[in-house]
Amino acid sequence: MFGFRTVLVGDPSFLKDLFSPSVHSPFLRRMPLLPGFKELGMDKEGLLLNLDISKWRHNRKFFQQSLSPPSFIELSTLYTRDCCEEMMTYWNDIKIDQVVRLDEWYRAFTSDMMGLVAADSKEESLKILYKKTVDSNAKLSFELENVDLNDLNKLSNGEQYRRLRSDYADAIAFFVFIPKFFWNLPWFRQKCKYFRQVLVALSQFEIKFIKERKAMIDDQKYINNITIDTNKNIINSNWNGNKVRSDFLTMLLTMNNDSNPSPEDIKQNIREMFGAGTGTTTTSLCTIAYLLSKHPEVEQRMVKEILSVIGPSKNVGSFDLSKLVYTEAVIYEAMRLYPVIPITFRFTPEITTQIDGHSFPPNTIFGINLSHIQRNEKYFKDPNTFNPERFLGNWRETLPTFAFSPFGQGMRSCPGKHFAMTEMKVILATIYRKYTFKLVNPKEPLHLKFTLVNDISKLEVFLEKRKLE
Ligand code: HEM
Repeated sequence: MFGFRTVLVGDPSFLKDLFSPSVHSPFLRRMPLLPGFKELGMDKEGLLLNLDISKWRHNRKFFQQSLSPPSFIELSTLYTRDCCEEMMTYWNDIKIDQVVRLDEWYRAFTSDMMGLVAADSKEESLKILYKKTVDSNAKLSFELENVDLNDLNKLSNGEQYRRLRSDYADAIAFFVFIPKFFWNLPWFRQKCKYFRQVLVALSQFEIKFIKERKAMIDDQKYINNITIDTNKNIINSNWNGNKVRSDFLTMLLTMNNDSNPSPEDIKQNIREMFGAGTGTTTTSLCTIAYLLSKHPEVEQRMVKEILSVIGPSKNVGSFDLSKLVYTEAVIYEAMRLYPVIPITFRFTPEITTQIDGHSFPPNTIFGINLSHIQRNEKYFKDPNTFNPERFLGNWRETLPTFAFSPFGQGMRSCPGKHFAMTEMKVILATIYRKYTFKLVNPKEPLHLKFTLVNDISKLEVFLEKRKLE
């Protein structure tokens, strides 16, 4: 792969070194240095492809710390719930026989929600999708496609960021998958120039935004404006107020007084929170919806649990989530069958690696085949059957180490896993109390497109309001 010898590993007992939890592990890199990573600035910034181990350690510490405080968890629960409510308000206008692209709704949802959680900046993707759904000919004042990069400031902050991020995703695909040799050929040259402009414009936008927030924090001091009422409901006291909220950006700027990360580091962390946190959750939510539609008895049991823990109308609070054990099992089982990242990678330029008596020279890429391991009948009875029960009780003690790793393992495992699990539970608990989805084409397989990650490309459903006895 990419001109490097690549070995696929499909046995969890071979993963002790590759998934080592040690800070001194020689496998702290994911990929070798490729020209595209350099062009994107990802070789020395952020986490995902960072090869500069001391910078990666520094960023990882800030990233993880910023996602952990209870006030951040409360805030993300609140934002997730509010975005669910907004989405369901739009769904009120959708007719019972109208085909609904659930993948598009979940994509818009995660985009809006992540904008709020990351930087209190709403992208209005749900609103745009709603307008398009109810009137396919609608001329939208905030239609973004025709706005030139130089005229971006005519758009609201959320819209500018949405547009730049969408082009940034294309820039990543271009620089990672098109070999450098092509970048100067006629058709590619124009594209390459455009994507370089996107990278500059996106950085300028983000750095400006970060500096403004820093000034706000210095000005106002840090204010956590989440309050909880006597019924343990979170009160959204200041949705449009100008106080500083405890979102991911504020956390990054305020938590670490000893050695604040630079705006450049923060910029990449926020970018990766979006990049790694929106598509992954969208795909997982769609696989869950698909599997539940095919297994109504599982859905019924999950809804029963949600109603008994939270009730039919009370707001879902973060303190309810640990009681949703069956709902959690449903999420795990969907991620076992359809891991969003079916293969994750480790790379070392330093040592010869020994696996099961074989030697692999330095600069070998190891592809860890999570998808294969998670469908192996050695570890999972009837591996192709959707059966959330296998994740109830003491499954953690009985399953071999590394046999179930939808968020990876070791030092480079997913730092967003607790956040993603919280978010998915809140979404399921909020939406499934009110709605159920019926597949338009029950015989169709799940439409997953593989480009290093599994991305849902289409999920068509009919929406039905749930009738509670
Ligand atoms: C269902 C949702 C998600 C799934 C299934 C998922 C899965 C994964 C996996 C498998 C990896 C590679 C781990 C490894 O190589 O050992 C990863 C890495 C990563 N994820 Fe997630 N993820 C999800 C959501 C999120 C969210 C919400 C965020 C941000 C808040 C996030 C941020 C990251 C980052 C930054 C990395 C790279 C870490 C590093 O290289 O140090 N992910 N994720």
